[in-house]
Amino acid sequence: MNKNRIPMIAGNWKMHLNAKEAGELALALKKGLDPDLRHEVLIAPTYTNLAAVREALSGSKIILSSQDVHWEEKGAFTGAVSPAQILDAGCTHAIIGHSERRKIFGESDEVVNKKMKAALAHNIVPVLCIGETLEEREAQQTYRVLETQLAGAFAGLKAGEVARVVIAYEPVWAIGTGKTATPEQAQDAHTFVRKQMEKLYGGDYAAGVRILYGGSVKADNIDTLMAKPDIDGALVGGESLKADKFLRVIHFQEVL
Ligand code: PGA
Repeated sequence: MNKNRIPMIAGNWKMHLNAKEAGELALALKKGLDPDLRHEVLIAPTYTNLAAVREALSGSKIILSSQDVHWEEKGAFTGAVSPAQILDAGCTHAIIGHSERRKIFGESDEVVNKKMKAALAHNIVPVLCIGETLEEREAQQTYRVLETQLAGAFAGLKAGEVARVVIAYEPVWAIGTGKTATPEQAQDAHTFVRKQMEKLYGGDYAAGVRILYGGSVKADNIDTLMAKPDIDGALVGGESLKADKFLRVIHFQEVL
């Protein structure tokens, strides 16, 4: 991490838990949070659990996020949830372009771009996910993939509009596999992402944008990841479902 950027630790609960379990987990996190903690903590429950989690989090600084958002305002879009609806449910942030959405639901960079634009137009902070597959890494395509995904996601957006965007670098081969990128691999990708952001929006923007690492982040590897200068936090899946483990991730200690 770098002292000039506020770290963010985000939990993506994916399609797990019922409302009662999600509310209990949120309450445990709220109670376990160091009151002096200066960095940001975010949780993204399933849509159906947003109300329970919102209630459990009341009075806490933990940020409520959706796992996705549709780009249309309203209408005949069965299964989709609009920006206004996620705002109404208490979310201030939305994960956009997660690799599971890209792979399982066929989301293209164009779709990701529409969602970015819709979220930003509603003052919702996007947590934009990017990352290469194992085949792409082995074919030395990592940088090309990251460059394409970033250019696609930010197409048509001006510097003034993207000030609050958070980027999550999540190598697909590390998600849910227990194979974390090494801190060096993650740092290398983050440096590249920051350089791309400099090309798109200039040095000041690039120096301020937060880049989270995601992919098998655990209580026992967060400290070494956070010691890297361009890793500004983490997007955590499986480990964010266990209160004690996720609290340890949240309260990381940098190993330098
Ligand atoms: P994981 O998931 O921590 O379970 O690997 C991360 C993510 O998909 O955001």
